[in-house]
Amino acid sequence: MVYFGVGCSGLATVGMVGTDPMVGPPGPLRRYANAACGRRGGRGLDDIIGLSPRFMQGKQTRLETLETFHRALAAGERFHGYLANYRGDGTKYRVEIDCRPLRAADGRIENFVSFEREVIRRLGRPAGSAAGRYEPIGVSNDALTGALSALSVFKHT
Ligand SMILES: Cc1cc2nc3c(=O)[nH]c(=O)nc-3n(C[C@H](O)[C@H](O)[C@H](O)COP(=O)(O)O)c2cc1C
Repeated sequence: MVYFGVGCSGLATVGMVGTDPMVGPPGPLRRYANAACGRRGGRGLDDIIGLSPRFMQGKQTRLETLETFHRALAAGERFHGYLANYRGDGTKYRVEIDCRPLRAADGRIENFVSFEREVIRRLGRPAGSAAGRYEPIGVSNDALTGALSALSVFKHT
């Protein structure tokens, strides 16, 4: 909760989204988003709660990546990848997403949670792995940073 508080105060650059466990449409529906998500997408938080994150997708959002995302959610596995998304004004940005299932004691998935940060394409570098092609913008030193690192968020396995 402390960490959510940091997000709400407008300091965090890492976006956090919590959804229900419904993998197929109309789910997964957003139940929580921190202020960084609203700022990045250029939308008010009131406008994005209750919607599936699909509304941010557009022409250049790769279908193949979405299929990988869908398969990971359906299998109850982590998805870590890069997607093109669109702001409220139609401009495109790239986001790195680390999404994980949250399970109840009996193993049932109760929610999905994702950590998201904006990235840009590295210029003048050979295209290797996705991790080598993108770099995060706006490195943050807020209270979340250490906690996310302890959870290996954004770390490639
Ligand atoms: C917690 C969570 C956060 C998500 N955030 C995004 C996002 O920021 N951008 C995006 O394009 N898709 C996001 N998605 C993925 C879509 O909701 C959806 O799962 C994806 O489009 C693949 O499923 P589909 O093939 O059924 O559309 C998120 C999913 C979850 C569970």
